[in-house]
Amino acid sequence: MCGIVGYIGRRDATPILIQGLKRLEYRGYDSFGIATVGSAIEVYKKTGRISDGEAGAAHLTGSTGIGHTRWATHGEPNDLNAHPHTDCSGRIAVVHNGVIENYGELKRQLEERGHTFRSETDTEVIAHLIEEHYDGDLLAAVNATLPLLRGSYAVLVIAEDTQQIVAARDASPLVLGVGDAEIFAASDMTPLLEYTERVIFLEDGDVADLAPGRYTIYHDGRMVERPIELINWCVEDTRKGGFAHYMLKEIYEQPQSFYETIRAGIDDRVRRMVMEADEITLVACGTSYHTALVFKYLAEPLCGIPVRVEVGSEFKYFTPPLHGLVIAVSQSGETADTIAALKMAKARNCPTLAITNMQGSTVTRVADETLLMRAGPEIGVAATKSYTAQLAALMQIVNLRCEGAFDDALSHAHLAIGDVLLQDIHEAVALCSKAEHVFFVGRGPFYPVSMEGALKMKEISYVHAEGYAAGELKHGPFALLTPETPVVAVCTPGPTYGVMASNIKEMKARKAPVIALGVAGDTELAEIVDIFIPIPNTHHLVQVLTASVVLQLLAYHTACALQRDVDKPRNLAKSVTVE
Ligand code: F6R
Repeated sequence: MCGIVGYIGRRDATPILIQGLKRLEYRGYDSFGIATVGSAIEVYKKTGRISDGEAGAAHLTGSTGIGHTRWATHGEPNDLNAHPHTDCSGRIAVVHNGVIENYGELKRQLEERGHTFRSETDTEVIAHLIEEHYDGDLLAAVNATLPLLRGSYAVLVIAEDTQQIVAARDASPLVLGVGDAEIFAASDMTPLLEYTERVIFLEDGDVADLAPGRYTIYHDGRMVERPIELINWCVEDTRKGGFAHYMLKEIYEQPQSFYETIRAGIDDRVRRMVMEADEITLVACGTSYHTALVFKYLAEPLCGIPVRVEVGSEFKYFTPPLHGLVIAVSQSGETADTIAALKMAKARNCPTLAITNMQGSTVTRVADETLLMRAGPEIGVAATKSYTAQLAALMQIVNLRCEGAFDDALSHAHLAIGDVLLQDIHEAVALCSKAEHVFFVGRGPFYPVSMEGALKMKEISYVHAEGYAAGELKHGPFALLTPETPVVAVCTPGPTYGVMASNIKEMKARKAPVIALGVAGDTELAEIVDIFIPIPNTHHLVQVLTASVVLQLLAYHTACALQRDVDKPRNLAKSVTVE
């Protein structure tokens, strides 16, 4: 949800900023902009994708600069609302990720004092406030401004007469990269991978004064030391590697990311926490909410532990009575609603665990302990490999509570995931890409798998899709079934097989075409459905994974057939850092 990047050093800042913004584009792609300190502050900003407009920035000079890629919150996506924002005189430039909640009041006061605003954004007030306090000391001016802001921010500020960047964060992420005589700043690690593996994750309330090869961090006005950490990703992980889309590459990386997450295991502190829990509450949003629901369907019957799953955005306002371990599941580790829920759980003295893919992210700072997934950078906006890596982490917790009963299944799961990658699904894709509506149904853990299948389908193909518990369809949605409304049903051996098969017959009786995912060799099922997609006949924990991957591929190929922008679906951002 907006990405920011800064560079100060010896090199030309513009290409570094543009490249960094491209890496952060998954956080928002409504508009982008950069500002550098040349002979004066030079600004270039533009609506649309970076690759379409980057040539316009080529004239910007200087080796100090800041950049921004936007997911619009205040003010529509246009050139004026794009960041960086400057003060009245154009001597100060600011990029910002977050929301300034009291900007209306601040703007009115500033206008009364003679400031003229150019944009409708909340951010512009920051530039004008800094202008009021600036007398040649940029750090002091930023320090005087920050207490006036209510809301969330990660900001980078430059001024025309100083080779310096002042960076500050409160409730929005900001990472420093420490290079050789150069310093980088960014919303996350991905823009830094090319240049350095040494990073500093700033804490809420930190203000950093950056100069070429030098940085000083302050907290509450006092100088503080923050540890330098080594990034566990490499730049190759961020390349498309010959695939048509990042999403396809990331789908294909799942055998490895699942295996790596299992191989990394669970450390002793997390183990103890999990074993001591007599109840578990998971909070998450979107796809992560679906993995949390899968966990509930596995952990309650298999390990007999009560599990509650809450949507992050609801939790804050309708907090349930809390008891036991609270787990925040978030691939980015920066989802505002999930973080708010996690903070509430902490305030109620619950032990807290973060499951995330992002080293150093906010959830890792808030939670007592972290279980880090090993998915590597996920650039496609739609979560795929982070979803299965979350399942790897959560299934390990199930396995731990079940005394290693699923060791064998989990250690071989990556092979089965690899097997389904080449599954022929072209008939199913042809059906879905002609449909206006598609239902996804399953029972038990395959119910959240179906919800996830539907979410993937709608977010990247824009085909309307709904995920339902198979038995629920006849309680209303049956009214929508027509010969043009495909139903994708996951029907694998187990206690619900018979009732699933009956549900499928009921759908067929309403003339809905049924695409069924069942185990290889299930001829009985294949005979009653229109399209049968086999998945390997494995442990049902593994079938959760293979079925999910087939549904990802179905959404992906449907989106391609409809010529959608797969990696950057409209209106979305990968990291949702606003409520
Ligand atoms: C969908 C998707 C989103 C995220 C959701 C939570 O493909 O990616 O639904 O799952 O925004 O994000 P995280 O996991 O980063 O908290």
